[in-house]
Amino acid sequence: ASVGASVARLGSAIGARVDGVRLGGDLDPGTVATIRAALLANKVIFFRGQQHLDDAGQLAFGELLGTPTLAHPTVRGRDNVNVLPIDSDYGKANSWHTDVTFVDRVPAISILRAVHLPPYGGDTTWASTVAAYETLPPSLKALVDNLWAVHTNAYDYAANIDELRIGGVDVKTEEYRKEFVSDLYETEHPVVRVHPETGERALLLGHFVKRLVGLSSTESQAVFQLLQQRVTRLEHTVRWHWQDGDVAIWDNRATQHYAVADYDDQPRRLHRITLAGDVPVSIDG
Ligand code: SIN
Repeated sequence: ASVGASVARLGSAIGARVDGVRLGGDLDPGTVATIRAALLANKVIFFRGQQHLDDAGQLAFGELLGTPTLAHPTVRGRDNVNVLPIDSDYGKANSWHTDVTFVDRVPAISILRAVHLPPYGGDTTWASTVAAYETLPPSLKALVDNLWAVHTNAYDYAANIDELRIGGVDVKTEEYRKEFVSDLYETEHPVVRVHPETGERALLLGHFVKRLVGLSSTESQAVFQLLQQRVTRLEHTVRWHWQDGDVAIWDNRATQHYAVADYDDQPRRLHRITLAGDVPVSIDG
């Protein structure tokens, strides 16, 4: 099904575009291995021209890379439990996060497919949390190496997402949020996580962090902001302008992402699947 994959890097810290692959459940093992290696090396990879993919094809392809999980522990997929519609009608992910970090086994990989795009805006930006850790000065590494964070799905939306638009939060968004927190999760993870496949050290933070263990809320916020600034340095990021038929795959163990909400009230819809991951391991094992 593929004429030979080629991988082109998009920056020194993160991002590559993969050409010459028609994604689906019928890819040969060599191409799957190339995709996996490109993903581990580049943290997020992009494919153009995948208009043939539907939900079933996205899932079948996902099964070649891992085990599709329930798309979200509390938000049900609307047509298929393993496919989560990311729909601007239900809120916008315009704050930095790693997907679903409030559970024990944080998903390893997410696969996002463009379904309906606005005529302008709506890019997504990813950041390498490995580059963030690696560029910390030794004194800050010493601070974070033994730090743990509490992650929760009941995080502070108002603090993270700009809701100053007239009328406030609409009914659909409010309902979605209620569903999102219908079961409450609070999980502690190490702030420095050792990647189970590459052995790289990455900062595990993002908007689901409620506080840092052993610090006051003021200290937690200050340290959290300091580290998040390191994650989101532009040199650690790549920004993707979506086109019809695009697919992005990211290593959720080594990245955060942010969906830029600059498309006004126009509809934007992408379908996401997530592949099962491990309990994050600290540098002490
Ligand atoms: C997400 O997976 O958080 C959504 C990303 C996006 O909407 O671009």
